[in-house]
Amino acid sequence: MAARDQAVHRIPEILHDTRWTVCLVGEEQSAKLAQVTAGLRLPPDRTGSGKLITSGFSYWGLESTVAWAHACNDLYYPVMRESIESFSRRWHGMAAALPDGPLHHVSLGPGTGEKDQAILRHLAERGTPGCYIPVDVSAEMLRLGQRAALQNLRLPPGEVLPVQLDFALPRNLDRLRALVARTVGDEPVLYSLLGNTLANFDSDAQLLKLLVDKVLRPQDRFLLEVANTAGQDGSAALAAAQEYENSPRFREFVTSALMQYTDLQIDMNSLSCEGSVEDDRALLVKVVYRNRTGGELTLTLPDRSSVPFPDQDTIRLYLSRKYTQQGLEKMLTEAEVVKAGEAYDGGNTAFDRPVFGMTLLLLQSSGAPRDPVGPNPFA
Ligand SMILES: C[S@@+](CC[C@H](N)C(=O)[O-])C[C@H]1O[C@@H](n2cnc3c(N)ncnc32)[C@H](O)[C@@H]1O
Repeated sequence: MAARDQAVHRIPEILHDTRWTVCLVGEEQSAKLAQVTAGLRLPPDRTGSGKLITSGFSYWGLESTVAWAHACNDLYYPVMRESIESFSRRWHGMAAALPDGPLHHVSLGPGTGEKDQAILRHLAERGTPGCYIPVDVSAEMLRLGQRAALQNLRLPPGEVLPVQLDFALPRNLDRLRALVARTVGDEPVLYSLLGNTLANFDSDAQLLKLLVDKVLRPQDRFLLEVANTAGQDGSAALAAAQEYENSPRFREFVTSALMQYTDLQIDMNSLSCEGSVEDDRALLVKVVYRNRTGGELTLTLPDRSSVPFPDQDTIRLYLSRKYTQQGLEKMLTEAEVVKAGEAYDGGNTAFDRPVFGMTLLLLQSSGAPRDPVGPNPFA
């Protein structure tokens, strides 16, 4: 036992050879496979509201991670590329609103890592770098993102703690909060949820509230980046859907999960991006795979069970939104957070197209202080 403890203590030294990375795995991965299988067993629905692959699983695994990295560089998928390119400017615009002193960074879904690099660089320039804790459902994404995030930065390897965890599950957030508290104590933390990731979840407002309730302490800040829209009608919804429709790399990305979890022979013509107006809060885009063969197919799932996939039945592969100002403000109020800083990017919109952009918000808790984590969070 003593020898094993020593081996763990030697990890920071081993990590000086940058070919090694560590990853704390926070949950049973086999249980996740059961979750994805359950989503593909849902009853038939022609509108994209039945079978589905939920957010985390679109990125889980090597194929999806590589496909995501390619999509982020696709000239025809401007949403992510422009969001990455303009991030540094927007981020620097609000950095003055950060609390003084050491600040640790917990990145929820770091993706390809470029934005985290801009944040970590700024914290290093202030002379107050803290720990960097990227949290992602995909171990492959963590390794890929970490390389970009730490490029040309002198963050000691022992200060970097990647965590593989699904942050949409309440019990996982309890454990994350306990892990962060054990790592940094009472020092402030900057949490980030960037790249419109929030919009990928069915219950986006509930997720934001959950994150704030579970992890955000009064001394912490929450950096949230979401896509916004000025228009809120059918033509704006159509234009939002077209942003995804036009990108071959994005299409490869969304179908990569389908290829991993089913034996379906993918036909790219069966993929459609469908835009609609979600009340007065957002434009909603569903990326849907529809059986257009004219007959019933059978899907074989990872547990070797089979599921009928009737003609015109759908599998929702991806969900996204662009929020109205009203929708965003309502989510913030419900989550009991207030703005400490904000920056907008209008995007490159032609004169006859709806105005879409990205909003970056620095948030802090407005709610009453909560009790510290319960007695045995690591149980
Ligand atoms: C849209 S990408 C955003 C990437 C990056 N933040 C950016 O702005 O470029 C979403 C990221 O969140 C991760 N992710 C999605 N759902 C997740 C979940 N439920 N738990 C943990 N990570 C998740 C994905 O693996 C991916 O890295």
